[in-house]
Amino acid sequence: MSRPIHALIDLSALEHNLTVVRRYAPRSRVMAVIKADAYGHGLLRAAEAFKSADGFAILELDAAIRLREAGYRQTILLIEGFFSTSELALFEHYRFCTVIHHSEQLEMLSTCKRPRGLDVFLKLNTGMNRLGFTPEQFPAAIESLKSNSAVGKITLMTHFACADEPKGGKGVSEQLQCFNAVTAGWNLPRSLANSAAILRHPETHADWVRPGIMLYGASPFSGTAAGELDLCPAMTVSSRIIAVQNLHSGDEVGYGLTFRADHPMRVGIVAGGYADGYPRHAPIGTPVLVNGERTHIIGRVSMDMLHVDLSGIESARVGSPVILWGKGIPVDEVAQSAGTIGYELLSSLAARIRIET
Ligand SMILES: Cc1ncc(COP(=O)(O)O)c(C=O)c1O
Repeated sequence: MSRPIHALIDLSALEHNLTVVRRYAPRSRVMAVIKADAYGHGLLRAAEAFKSADGFAILELDAAIRLREAGYRQTILLIEGFFSTSELALFEHYRFCTVIHHSEQLEMLSTCKRPRGLDVFLKLNTGMNRLGFTPEQFPAAIESLKSNSAVGKITLMTHFACADEPKGGKGVSEQLQCFNAVTAGWNLPRSLANSAAILRHPETHADWVRPGIMLYGASPFSGTAAGELDLCPAMTVSSRIIAVQNLHSGDEVGYGLTFRADHPMRVGIVAGGYADGYPRHAPIGTPVLVNGERTHIIGRVSMDMLHVDLSGIESARVGSPVILWGKGIPVDEVAQSAGTIGYELLSSLAARIRIET
């Protein structure tokens, strides 16, 4: 028998979450964000579940090629664009669409004869100061694209820094105002909204929405559970108890002996550690399900194992099923306990974990 840890990907949850996007943004085209191996869910597996999406947004050129070669005919947008002119022939061959976010990309495009009919998403930096042209540079960037015969359709885009913050936070409205003011003179399609903006800021939906995390059934908001948004977790990471220790009062557990029993208790050792993608910094108390019952981890997470408190779970023994996150234990809860976000846990699933559907 192989090591019992595995991840179950629920394709119907992925499909369902796409319908939730459509419900929130019924008039927008949907660009499913499937970068980072579809946030750890598997590129082609997720693409199949999202096959009714109008487009895919991705970052890795090799993954984009795999997607096109698998037969997906929708828009495929490379969200950091191209990095050198040598990639442009591939953009032409595979009919990829590119984000253009800095002037070096414009220069590369103007010095290169190919590709023909390259569709472009031109990115405006509305305040996040990560990627994009400044409001001052933006009009010239549009004119440069319009006068370049290699360029096909132009869409205007930006990205929000704080759409996940409570409504009324200054972030979205200021960035939206900036976007609207700078792009007002051009009758071109627009794309602004990530998951948080799709869910809470309908005024940002425009022509294309770009959902990522909500498609995978996690919440973009720290105070709102995915279930409250009608999102279903698509990834459940499960394992089993592989040993049980009966502790006496005063016994200690794990590397660094960071947990000390103050009464006799049973501890389950679970096949699953940081080399599987479970966060090493998850503290004592991080929730976990054993035999369908909620308990928590104790001691320090090691590379391949972690320890769980079996107090009150009389039925638990070697072989008992454990859910680390997914159905029954939202990834967001585990992430919050570990001081991170669901995005990081999902996309850090280790390659050695067996995936089932
Ligand atoms: C440009 C862009 N659009 C959309 C998204 C999707 O964001 P989210 O996963 O928060 O929906 C991302 C993710 O980082 C992104 O970089």
